[in-house]
Amino acid sequence: MADLLLGQLLYFTADPFREGVSAAQHISEGALLIEGGKIIALGEAAALRPAHPGAKLHDYGRDLISAGFIDAHVHYPQTAIIASWGKRLIDWLNDYTFPEEMRFADPAYAAGISSRYLDLALAHGTTSLCSYATIHPGSVDALFTEAQKRNMRVWTGKTCMDRNAPEGLRDTAQSAYDDSKALLEKWHGTDRLSYVITPRFSPTSTPEQLAALGQLWKEHPDCLMQTHLSEQTDEIAWVKELFPQSRDYLDTYEAQGLLREGAVYGHAIWLTEREKDRLREAGASLVHCPTSNTFIGSGLFDMGLARSLRVGLATDTGGGSSFSMLHTMAAAYEIGQLRGEALHPAQLWWLATQGSARALHAEDKIGNLAPGMEADLVVVDLASTPAIAQASARAETIWQALFPTIMMGDDRAIRTTWIAGKPNHA
Ligand code: GUN
Ligand code: ZN
Repeated sequence: MADLLLGQLLYFTADPFREGVSAAQHISEGALLIEGGKIIALGEAAALRPAHPGAKLHDYGRDLISAGFIDAHVHYPQTAIIASWGKRLIDWLNDYTFPEEMRFADPAYAAGISSRYLDLALAHGTTSLCSYATIHPGSVDALFTEAQKRNMRVWTGKTCMDRNAPEGLRDTAQSAYDDSKALLEKWHGTDRLSYVITPRFSPTSTPEQLAALGQLWKEHPDCLMQTHLSEQTDEIAWVKELFPQSRDYLDTYEAQGLLREGAVYGHAIWLTEREKDRLREAGASLVHCPTSNTFIGSGLFDMGLARSLRVGLATDTGGGSSFSMLHTMAAAYEIGQLRGEALHPAQLWWLATQGSARALHAEDKIGNLAPGMEADLVVVDLASTPAIAQASARAETIWQALFPTIMMGDDRAIRTTWIAGKPNHA
């Protein structure tokens, strides 16, 4: 049976970074028809309601119905160490991250955190995500198993490291290749799950390991490849020491076959002009992780890159300080302000939905409301707290109504989510 959802609708017919705000569409009294896990139609409620008298009605009143949020870069194994105090990247990895990731050798621990993380993501309106796992193949099995139970579209991969990581968190070039290949063959394309080839970053991989993963990517060109790029200046100086032959940080990946369409680089803050040019030529994706970039003290991403590259938005949990893509949009807005560009609410919302979908090469499936798209949705209460309600009460446009929720909203603003056409509430 079909479902008919009533509420305000927000969707996109183009990219607001390239086409302006007219790329965003709003229907104040809208309806969305869903059947078989997909969106069948959308439009004015006054037209769709009488046309589909047999559909089951879900009346969300003045709530906003949108494509669910897509978190394009997260470390689910860092769920329990989110909001750890006082470190910058390298010390934060050594003191907080690596000890926690060590615990994922235990499959029961990995299963428990996978379940907790996905429940937290859904509670915050995130219906799809691309995560790093740990070095342990079981950590990939754990997240995919829990995602499969929830029928979520999820990407993950074994995080490969063969140097500069503690005993127990290191693999080798060969075992990284073998384990990644086995996981890829086991999971990639099963239900809504996709494997991502995942070298953590150049400081923790030898050139031999990067080359082995480049080879694997060549053998499985339809996979994505994710890693970190130019997050902190100390990190870039370290990469220079470790790779004296390389022209720059990006070159450490390019030299080993890890730069082309389908490459997804997190952070990418301190890029040289040469790196920007090569990223554009190659058609690579970047992921902006604003709460992480301020929390770990990394720097201010140049959102101007969204005009010439695929750019997604992400929490980077637990380097990021929130599970909420609303908080993440707020942080992106504030970073934009510091760089002299006030991002429009339409741009922020697009980044968290279609932008992330494009960065993951899934924009034809998720991240927008349109006939044929998978029905992964978020229903947002635009008056979820007294502070937000009083600020949005005097709004005259959808953007004025939405912006207080972007800036001050959290999981209380998430009325519900729908995954592949099924509501997450009774
Ligand atoms: N660079 C390499 N690993 C990580 C990580 O886990 N988090 C962040 N923020 N940066 C990284
Ligand atoms: Zn990361």
